[in-house]
Amino acid sequence: MSEHGRINMCEINCEKERPKAKKPLLIEDLSLRDGHQSLFATRGRTEDMIPVAERMDEVGFWAMEVWGGATFDTMHRFLNEDPWERIRTLKRYVKKTPFSMLLRGQNLVGYRNYADDVAKAFVNRAADNGMDVFRTFDALNDYRNFEAVAPVIKSCGKHFQGCICYSLTEPRMGGTVYTLEYYVSKAKALVDMGADSICVKDMAGLMAPYDAYALIKALKDNVDVPINLHSHFTSGMAPMTHLKAVEAGVDILDTCLTPYAYRTSHPALEPMVMSLIGTDRDTGFDIETLASINETLEKEILPKYRHLLDDTKVSVIDINVLLHQTPGGMLSNLVNQLRDMDALDRIGEVYKELPRVRKELGQIPLVTPTSQIVGTQTVNNVLFDTPDERYKMITAQVKDLCYGLYGKTAVPIDPQVQEKALRGYDRGEEPISCRPAEVLKPELEAAKAEIKGLAVDEDDLILYTLFPVTGKKFLQQKYGKEAVPESMKAITMDDVERQADILKKAKAGELVESKLNGEFPEKTECLRTFNVFVDDACFEVGVDEVGGAPVIAYAQPAQAMSPAAAAPGQPVPLQGSTVPAPAASAPAPKAAPATAAKSPAPAAKPAAAAATGAQVTAPMPGMIIKYEKNVGDAVKKGDTVVVLEAMKMENALPAPADGELTAINFGSGDSVSKGDVLAVIG
Ligand code: CO
Repeated sequence: MSEHGRINMCEINCEKERPKAKKPLLIEDLSLRDGHQSLFATRGRTEDMIPVAERMDEVGFWAMEVWGGATFDTMHRFLNEDPWERIRTLKRYVKKTPFSMLLRGQNLVGYRNYADDVAKAFVNRAADNGMDVFRTFDALNDYRNFEAVAPVIKSCGKHFQGCICYSLTEPRMGGTVYTLEYYVSKAKALVDMGADSICVKDMAGLMAPYDAYALIKALKDNVDVPINLHSHFTSGMAPMTHLKAVEAGVDILDTCLTPYAYRTSHPALEPMVMSLIGTDRDTGFDIETLASINETLEKEILPKYRHLLDDTKVSVIDINVLLHQTPGGMLSNLVNQLRDMDALDRIGEVYKELPRVRKELGQIPLVTPTSQIVGTQTVNNVLFDTPDERYKMITAQVKDLCYGLYGKTAVPIDPQVQEKALRGYDRGEEPISCRPAEVLKPELEAAKAEIKGLAVDEDDLILYTLFPVTGKKFLQQKYGKEAVPESMKAITMDDVERQADILKKAKAGELVESKLNGEFPEKTECLRTFNVFVDDACFEVGVDEVGGAPVIAYAQPAQAMSPAAAAPGQPVPLQGSTVPAPAASAPAPKAAPATAAKSPAPAAKPAAAAATGAQVTAPMPGMIIKYEKNVGDAVKKGDTVVVLEAMKMENALPAPADGELTAINFGSGDSVSKGDVLAVIG
């Protein structure tokens, strides 16, 4: 009988006598971080984790991943939750199982390299708040980016898990960059840095089962610390990959509870538990406990998140991942980005341009944030390049990458692209070769001065330092200085039932226009249009009173008109617009100026201002980071006027002509739609 063969069947049929395995497979559960990040847009709320937390603590996981990655961002940006509070709250329910977080190396839980003082303070605070295992990765596998955080993790007495991002340039492991030797050398480098365990992070689900076998065996032969495999399901290979990894002797596997499993998430835990019963890798987990947790999640929790699940396709597997060797999340970002720009028909061109851009940018692994960097630049190239000029609109992050701010790329960056990206780059036109954070000045003191009076403790300060725009907004909400938008509030099971009821009636034909016999009445001149916001979506609804003249022909626009607005056609600077920015990640559907434009009153609107000069328009939906110029400033063609964040990348929008800036139509933090006039040059 092989070493994985079954022990006498009659012994295991009786749960009491289920023998303890010689080398039980250890499991890290990802449901409460990567699970909802992968399937439910990272929108999991702490209150929805509590009902299963104590039972999850009983399962016997090696660790539970509950924090880090995108959770820190979405919690404060969309859920009105203090990210630090989540660790402390869950700790009250999960007392035995260590907590794990995903730490993006020097990027921490953000999308750029932070200075060493921020990195060290962040790790200290995370450890103090209750984090135990720091799963640390760098998108470029440049471990100089661990040099600031790793010693702090160790000095706090916590577990430093070093990651190797798994990447490919061909369908199978090999080629010239991502070879077996590459991975073994990375593992040795991590051990030399003091890694307590090593995680192979296959974020795109690219790892084929037999490659996993070879890789895990090689790692087990060459390093002594435990090996953990993290392989996303996206392409469909992961359950097979898992089993081959178990055969090769992997120590720890990452899985999700069934309701958080599959699609772009991870293989489910329960089938693996069953598969290993009676073998020398039996997890020892009680399947009844798992079933009871699943039932709570299915019935009481996840219906509230169902609308976030991307179930537009029948298939649970993404074949494109197999074709393009890119993460599923990145592909869906590309699709969303193109859709926002009314350019979905160009997805084929994007797929073709993608490997080219990746190669030019140093054949880097595709993982947050490099997947966004490569993805957004690819879309920019497809949409804005001309036959005689490539890289016409280079994002700030690509410039940073070319400068060396993210670290050393797997192969050198294309010199022509690098030269173009660094032309006029504010840190200098010569790329650096030192550890990236060495060129970053400490950030905390300046941030402290900026947020004085609002940040109460170090946790607030770090939150603000990591996310200055949304972090400040959150702190204003946290301390009652700004109202919490309705869209941030949780959906209840009652809401879900009401929606299900309407849907049921609609399907049964009970909601059809019975009075109208399928014919729509004529719209009258009294028709009024409302923007109705539902979570991330916005619907424009026309309301026309039935059978009688409405009392109000037109409501005044909600925002008070400035006196200047009385003069139609005059450019009206709306410095720091009062329009509340919708909280959703989805592009702000209709900015208020557009609503005002429908009103017969001569309201202040960008369209009016636009007529008198050259416009700086939003090439894509996004959020205003900052204006680099003020009204009255002289600008030269090509000068950066405004910085727009789209798909988490910053885009510097240049002045289309020389002149004087006569209008600024939005403020920092405002969401804008494609085509909105952001500024006018007279
Ligand atoms: Co993951």
